[in-house]
Amino acid sequence: MREREICDMATVIDGVRVAAEMRERAAGQVRELVARGVTPCLAVVLVGDDPASASYVNMKERDCAEVGITSLDHRLAADISQHELDALIDRLNADPAVHGILVQMPLPAHLDAESVMERISPEKDVDGFHPASLGRLVRGLPGFRACTPAGVMEMLRAYDIDPTGMRAVIVGRSTIVGKPMALLLLEANATVTVCHSRTKDLPAVCREADLLVAAIGRAGMIDASYVKPGAVVIDVGINRTDDGLVGDVDYVSVEPIASAITPVPGGVGPMTRAMLMVNTVAAAAAVE
Ligand code: GUN
Repeated sequence: MREREICDMATVIDGVRVAAEMRERAAGQVRELVARGVTPCLAVVLVGDDPASASYVNMKERDCAEVGITSLDHRLAADISQHELDALIDRLNADPAVHGILVQMPLPAHLDAESVMERISPEKDVDGFHPASLGRLVRGLPGFRACTPAGVMEMLRAYDIDPTGMRAVIVGRSTIVGKPMALLLLEANATVTVCHSRTKDLPAVCREADLLVAAIGRAGMIDASYVKPGAVVIDVGINRTDDGLVGDVDYVSVEPIASAITPVPGGVGPMTRAMLMVNTVAAAAAVE
């Protein structure tokens, strides 16, 4: 009964608030850098006119303006050649005024996203997608961490949720979220399981989680039958449906049994963008 009472009041993890605090701290660091003659600069590359990608890029540029980071906007036609995109990345790599390079994913199918991620100089890889950044994460060396999983770790810290000893279950094995999330949680002393579409009896595995991270990209898939009472539930999903933006977690059924939960929107999304600002400031500080 006591557990029910506690669980009836899940802490709603406020990504909007935590992200605003992170941007404020980043803005303070920008002011110090500017005073020393360095204005952090992020080059933002958008290929094509996918409305969702365009909206993410617009929000990232707005965040840059708020924090005091210069953003260089490169909007390219959907049919740009690999050679032209490579040439732009080479120019941005060589430009000492540019500290971070972000190429919004996904790219049109005729472009090779892997080679684009690898072409960006690791020193400017504020997305943390370069094989060198991922390798440094595996080795536990300092380096750029992918913004979404790094944002999740910041959120947990902000709410004093220490993953040490927790059984963490991640649903989704993408290179952008699932895999780096697993490594960051491992580094934070969680016992980590990564699930995916071939996992047998997924609900049962998820129900073992003290910390459940949903990063599948399927609206509302994780309902209460996947969640242990008292678990911390982090929803990385951003799915556009007729009902608007919804996460991978069925919030209405899960919130009453979780101890803490992130909403969508207003959870992980703003944290991802705030981490991009943090990474860009770090990139600028590193070359000062
Ligand atoms: N597409 C979805 N998430 C991301 C991200 O974090 N960075 C980039 N570059 N593209 C994305």
